[in-house]
Amino acid sequence: MNSTSYYNENRDALFEQYHSHDPAIVHRAWAPRFLKDRKPGFACDIGAGSGRDANWLAGQGWEVVAVEPSRFREPGEQNAHPRVIWLNDALPEIRKLRALGHRFDLILLCAVWMHVPQSSRERAFRVLTELLSPSGLLVINLRLGRDEEENRSRGFHPISADELLGYARDRAVSLRFRDKLPDRRRGHIEWEWLVFEIPDFARTGRLRSGVGSRFLEETAGAPEDCQWRSRSGC
Ligand SMILES: C[S@@+](CC[C@H](N)C(=O)[O-])C[C@H]1O[C@@H](n2cnc3c(N)ncnc32)[C@H](O)[C@@H]1O
Repeated sequence: MNSTSYYNENRDALFEQYHSHDPAIVHRAWAPRFLKDRKPGFACDIGAGSGRDANWLAGQGWEVVAVEPSRFREPGEQNAHPRVIWLNDALPEIRKLRALGHRFDLILLCAVWMHVPQSSRERAFRVLTELLSPSGLLVINLRLGRDEEENRSRGFHPISADELLGYARDRAVSLRFRDKLPDRRRGHIEWEWLVFEIPDFARTGRLRSGVGSRFLEETAGAPEDCQWRSRSGC
């Protein structure tokens, strides 16, 4: 099964199912903290599904590009908020999105990372961070499902926060938030939320020479730079 066939085959039923979730509740772990005082700008929702979250962001004033490679995109386009445009594109290359030449203040990947094979994930992370503007946020949530049969049949790849933290460290991207929540309906699934930020060196003046892991070493543990509640390392 490729990463879009399930969504192509079950488009209409999934539309109902995904829209039965209130996005304010889906995003309760990170959004109140990070969106409250942030002026709405350009956002991108990658693996946008049927557009629930893209419309939710647009309703708060964001201009949104919704990127979705499956036919799940079609009802999304039909029900799009006026501030949402749709693209048929996919990770890791997201060529059409990059060709737009935009930089985004917010990039959201909600329940998408497990569709990207391990061999493409480092590149995908690099491509995503290169699309962010200074102080831009990259919000990724990881579907951590314990049902091996479901993971196999849906073609989900094993993923972990630690892998992402390694990519972030290599690219001087700072982790601002990390938290894990149980799925509200299914006991075998947890969702791990990670919020990364591209440092705005012009604003903070914190990095005087060189980039890379030194930025994280300098800022790790500083409460204003890295706020998360899990046990493993930052
Ligand atoms: C579990 S759904 C999540 C949809 C939406 N983000 C949400 O939270 O409701 C995963 C989505 O990722 C999309 N997807 C699969 N492979 C992808 C890829 N390589 N790049 C971008 N999106 C992908 C699927 O088509 C599907 O719409």
